Amino acid sequence: MKKIILTGDRPTGQLHIGHLFGSLLKRVELQEEYDTHIMVADVQALTDNFNNPQKVRDNAFEVVLDNLAVGVDPNKSTIFIQSMIPEIAELTVFYSNLVTVSRLQRNPTVKEEIKQKKELFKDSVTFGFLGYPVSQAADITVFGADLVPVGEDQLPMIEQTREIVKKFNSIYGDILKEPEALIGSIGRVKGLDGNSKMGKSLNNAIYLADEPEVIEQKVKKALTDIKKIKIDDKGNPDDCMVYYYHQMFSKNNLENIKNECQSGTRGCVQCKKELSENIIKYLEPIREKRKYYQDRPELVREIVKDGTKRARIKASEILKKVKKGMRIDYF
Ligand code: TRP
Repeated sequence: MKKIILTGDRPTGQLHIGHLFGSLLKRVELQEEYDTHIMVADVQALTDNFNNPQKVRDNAFEVVLDNLAVGVDPNKSTIFIQSMIPEIAELTVFYSNLVTVSRLQRNPTVKEEIKQKKELFKDSVTFGFLGYPVSQAADITVFGADLVPVGEDQLPMIEQTREIVKKFNSIYGDILKEPEALIGSIGRVKGLDGNSKMGKSLNNAIYLADEPEVIEQKVKKALTDIKKIKIDDKGNPDDCMVYYYHQMFSKNNLENIKNECQSGTRGCVQCKKELSENIIKYLEPIREKRKYYQDRPELVREIVKDGTKRARIKASEILKKVKKGMRIDYF
C-alpha cells in the first residue's frame, strides 16, 4: 500500500513562487511515490471571503491551473474540491467537540491572521474562521493522510490536527492516523519588499502566471541594500532581496554574483536584469503548461470532476469507521 499525501491551497488568488518552493515542488516530486490528494480549499477560503463568493469560485480554477502547470499529474494525483466532499464538513462537526476555544485562540497562525484581518472581523472573529484549523484537521484525516506537504506557516495546523487525532482515538478507538508535516526546500519565501512572507495582500509576490514583462517590472522594484547607491559601492548581499532570489534562480553563478556585489564591481541594475532573466527562464515551462490547460477549460473540469468523485469514495470509507467508533452508525 502506498502512503498517503493530502495537501491543499486556498483559492483566494493565483499561486506564486512562495507556494512553489514552499509546497508545490515537493508535492510534484512525491506524487511518484505517494497516493497524492490535492484539495482546492474553497470552504476554508470562504471563512474569510464569505462576502466574496465569486472571487473564490474564479480562483478555484486558477489554483487548479497552477497545480497542473507545475507538474501535478492528474493520472497520479487526485485533484478535488473541498466543498464537494460533505464528509469533511461532517467530520468537522464531530471534531469540534474535541477542541477548546482557547486552544484555537492560541494557534499562532490563526492569531496572526486575525490581526491582519481587523477590517473584516472588526472586534470579534467569526466562529467559522476561528474554527478553520478543526476543518483542516478533517481535510487531512478524512483521507488518512500520512504526510502533509505545506509551507512553514502551516505547522501549527498540523500540530493541532495531531492533537485532535490523539484525543479522538483515546475516546472512540484507534481509528485515525496521526499525520506529519513536510516542509518544502524553503519553508517560507520572503516578498520582493523584504517582508518575511510573500503574499497577494502584501502586493510583493511573483506569480507563476506572471508574463515576462511583469516579472521584469517587479524585479526592478525589489528591495536592494540601501547603502549601495553607486555601481562601485560595495554591497551586502545579505541585505538584498535580489541576491535572496538569486539563491533560488541563479545557482550556477551565485559565487560570482556575491563576490562582484561585495567588491563593488556589479551594479544593481545589471544584477536585477540577470535575475529577471533567470526567473523568466525558470518559469517558462510552467507558464506554457498553464496556457495549455487554460485554453482547455473542459479538460480541466473533467480532471477535477473525476478527482472529486474518487476523493469522495475514499472519504466515505473513513467516515464509516468514524461513525462506528462514535456509536452513531444507526442503520
Ligand atoms: N491552510 C492552507 C493554506 O492556507 C490550505 C489548506 C486547507 C491545507 N486545508 C489543508 C493545507 C489541508 C494542507 C492540508 O495554505
